[in-house]
Amino acid sequence: MQQNELKAGALFAGIGGFCLGFAQAGIKTVWAIENNSASVQTYQHNISGVRIVMDGDVPASIKDVKVKTHQLEPVDLLHAGFPCQSFSMAGERKGFEDDRGKLFYEIIRIVKEFGDKKPSVIVLENSPHLRNGEGGAWFLEVSKELKGLGYWFRESSSAELDCFDLTPLPQKRNRLFMVAFSIDHFKNGRLNFPAVTFTEEKKLTDYIDFAGEQDDEYYLHEENRYHKMISDEVDDKNCIYQLRKYLVRVKEPNQCPTLTANMGLGGHNVPFIHDKNGLRKLTEYECLKLQGFPSTFKFPESLGRNKRYTQVGNSVSVPVVALLAKSIREKIDKERNK
Ligand SMILES: C[S@@+](CC[C@H](N)C(=O)[O-])C[C@H]1O[C@@H](n2cnc3c(N)ncnc32)[C@H](O)[C@@H]1O
Repeated sequence: MQQNELKAGALFAGIGGFCLGFAQAGIKTVWAIENNSASVQTYQHNISGVRIVMDGDVPASIKDVKVKTHQLEPVDLLHAGFPCQSFSMAGERKGFEDDRGKLFYEIIRIVKEFGDKKPSVIVLENSPHLRNGEGGAWFLEVSKELKGLGYWFRESSSAELDCFDLTPLPQKRNRLFMVAFSIDHFKNGRLNFPAVTFTEEKKLTDYIDFAGEQDDEYYLHEENRYHKMISDEVDDKNCIYQLRKYLVRVKEPNQCPTLTANMGLGGHNVPFIHDKNGLRKLTEYECLKLQGFPSTFKFPESLGRNKRYTQVGNSVSVPVVALLAKSIREKIDKERNK
């Protein structure tokens, strides 16, 4: 590890979007908790030198991980993109009442278990709706828990970051990031969140192969009812179309809709394009590129296509996290007392 490299722990690590973004600011993830074996396979296929926390020979659920028993090394920073279904507009919005929503409290428990070795920064990521849901009660709950642990946290500790506004990526993806600095290490909790800067023209052709030919499985056959639905809607063949339950959503030119985890469940939300051979889904590698993963990132050969789509849709956009990580890194280097 480089001398000035900082250490991070990853909760809900997925395929490593956060870990790759933080690495770009010299913050190296040393251990990761992720209980989905397929995601862990993809993670380990691409990222080395990170300890995946295990229970016997299976990846541990966060619910079963104890700092002492699992010998979690203290870290400078903890990042957690916790499951968002309970907080998002698309879900049932049961918030902390829902089993998945309750996983938030596992983050709090783990930080507590570190005692006086708790991380000096906690970074959380979730649906923007978490901020306003239940009339603001969900956000107040997050705030109360973080403050209770000894962290600075207020409204301005959070920001909605959309990769379309901040990076060259043409994907619209607006997410809520919350950053809490420990009172023991920082005089205040202020952070300069990445600001809206990217104004250059975006081109889908930099990410999507309109001119090539893909496997047959990606194409919709003409007799498929969705083929007709889309074809009836389509004028501009340079756009992306997304299938919703009963309608086709046409995005503006050179814009990609939010890639979601349920792309992997077939049918809905899958983005389509017209390439020179017909109407087809975006490939899972095009989706990875639209999330800002490096071209060297590969899925394990044995991993089925649906799981691949789910994994990409579940991920954060790497360049957005990298920008945020750089802002956090600047503050740590300037203001943290050791
Ligand atoms: C939104 S994704 C996280 C994305 C990730 N943070 C990244 O960097 O791209 C949420 C992840 O939490 C994982 N997860 C859900 N329940 C879990 C549990 N009980 N223990 C550990 N991981 C869990 C899911 O498998 C999923 O990969």
